[in-house]
Amino acid sequence: MKSTEYIRSVAPGFQPQIALVLGSGLGEFADSIDKISEISYADLDGFPQSGVAGHAGKLILGKVEGVEIIAMQGRVHYYENAQAEAMRTPIHCFKELGCEMIILTNAAGSLDKNKPPGSVMLINDYINFTGVSPLFSETGNNRFVNMVNAYDKELREEMLRIAEQHKIELGQGVYAWMCGPQFETPAEINALRVLGVNAAGMSTVPETILARHQQLKVMALSVITNFAAGMDSEELSHAQTMKCAEIAALTFKVLLTEFIKKQKS
Ligand code: HPA
Repeated sequence: MKSTEYIRSVAPGFQPQIALVLGSGLGEFADSIDKISEISYADLDGFPQSGVAGHAGKLILGKVEGVEIIAMQGRVHYYENAQAEAMRTPIHCFKELGCEMIILTNAAGSLDKNKPPGSVMLINDYINFTGVSPLFSETGNNRFVNMVNAYDKELREEMLRIAEQHKIELGQGVYAWMCGPQFETPAEINALRVLGVNAAGMSTVPETILARHQQLKVMALSVITNFAAGMDSEELSHAQTMKCAEIAALTFKVLLTEFIKKQKS
């Protein structure tokens, strides 16, 4: 059975407005969802399982502040199997279910001294340093997707207002998609800084492209888990990513919950 039909059969009448992708170490937000149902990716045709620690591999159907959402607790990365289109089925499925918007989240390394680990950055644009696209195999003219304001301007303004109301420092910045899985070299980070990058990570951009191709509005948050390579004496590791994602979890929860609440239609 197609994943969209399977989800409909598990939760008849469920009509999510928002899709949410929870990145490395951010899966805990799932505890704030009033759950209707949970489905393992193993039961969903075309939902790839991530092999990375901190990615549960479950789709959660539920409500936040009365708003129906569908959340991916864990996601596959390009570096796991060199398939840029790995998130194609989930994104298409969210569109088929009637979502109008997708919220993408990730863990990232900061290039800004004033955005330390534990802070959150609102992504306002990206640079794709991988040289690949999740749309390579698409046909037709709608593959030529306009990426100006890929991160919806109104949604960003709304998120900044929420941060201000809750006295949370939330800067906007440019995210660089690096293919990974190795972290960057200090020379790469110096080059990225010159090019206007504020945070580096290994995800989110393919999902952004797939979502814009499906005309979903996109909002994206980076949780800063470390200073990027060469900026700090602390050694980069996945364990550090997980630890710092936990530190930012409360800020992240306030921002997300309040943002979702505002989307009540
Ligand atoms: N670089 C790339 N990806 C990351 C980083 C980083 O420094 N931290 C967390 N994800």
